[in-house]
Amino acid sequence: MASDIFGQVQDLIQEIKSATPANQEELERFRIMYLGSKNKIKPLFGQMRNVPNEQKRDFGQALNEAKNVAEEKYEALKAQLDAAAFEDAAAEIDLTAPGEPFRLGTRHPVSIVMDEVIDIFSRIGFAVAEEREIEDDWHNFTAMNTPEDHPARDMQDTFYIKGFPNMLLRTHTSSVQSRVMTTQKPPIRIIAPGRVYRNETISARSHCQFHQVEGLYVDEGVSFADLKQTLLYFAREMYGKDARIRLRPSYFPFTEPSAEVDVYYGLADEHAYRMTKGTGWLEIMGCGMVDPAVLQNCGIDSEKYTGFAFGMGIERQAIIKYRVHDIRMFFENDVRFLRQFNKVVS
Ligand code: PHE
Repeated sequence: MASDIFGQVQDLIQEIKSATPANQEELERFRIMYLGSKNKIKPLFGQMRNVPNEQKRDFGQALNEAKNVAEEKYEALKAQLDAAAFEDAAAEIDLTAPGEPFRLGTRHPVSIVMDEVIDIFSRIGFAVAEEREIEDDWHNFTAMNTPEDHPARDMQDTFYIKGFPNMLLRTHTSSVQSRVMTTQKPPIRIIAPGRVYRNETISARSHCQFHQVEGLYVDEGVSFADLKQTLLYFAREMYGKDARIRLRPSYFPFTEPSAEVDVYYGLADEHAYRMTKGTGWLEIMGCGMVDPAVLQNCGIDSEKYTGFAFGMGIERQAIIKYRVHDIRMFFENDVRFLRQFNKVVS
């Protein structure tokens, strides 16, 4: 009786060994037959009780062998068939087919214009100075001749840093002026590009975050004529050789005298009419002679040195250059808008 059952196990092992599943389907049938939940080995485990005690161990081992043989055979065949299937699939791949195109991004119009402004001023000897966006009150306001309670602080609504009443997000790149003038000696000739922040209601004309480029030139004998000629040079490089500018008297705490610079935009269409409020002129920046008080605050002898400074909004230049109607478009990240400013590679 017992030897009969042993014989059944041996037969089963032989059967498993001689099985030759030749494809995935046959292999699956093999798996179900010898390893599935209703496999052929299982019922033999039930025969254990008919095996004399002293043979139970051998019988158990024989059953385990059957299971192991089935498992090993299954794994080996599966690996073989999978590899063959992969090779078949690979043979189908056309290595000469053109690649899938993937879209490269394009440069943001603000970056394009920023680089252009930097490039224009680099050509006449201005070096780029970059500074922090989280600034202290002194560099952003006080050194720039805007002490606390000065009404001019209301001109720029400020984001302060919670828990640090002395720290703020710079409201203009003019903070770089004080950073540079306290660390460098004249002659100073820098432009400072970067982000600035103002707590303003977002509209087509203003945003809580935008970009500026600041310019600063401090040396002996720097005059208002130098400033005007520099700005005319800039306007012609930026907006074409026929570009026209005008300076209107204005006020900034850190320059004296101060001016607003307009560029002629024209009245060609309704958009131009609306943009310029019917004047044809568009403001592009603020400027002026560095106030002697600012030089003194920063440790520069205002008897010996004079300087000029200007600050322009980059989005503003981009709006004029590309005739964009709404400043919010620069921050919405709509690729249909952004892709128009560069040759698209795809
Ligand atoms: N900081 C001024 C602003 O943000 C611009 C400015 C810069 C004016 C330098 C004069 C000189 O409006």
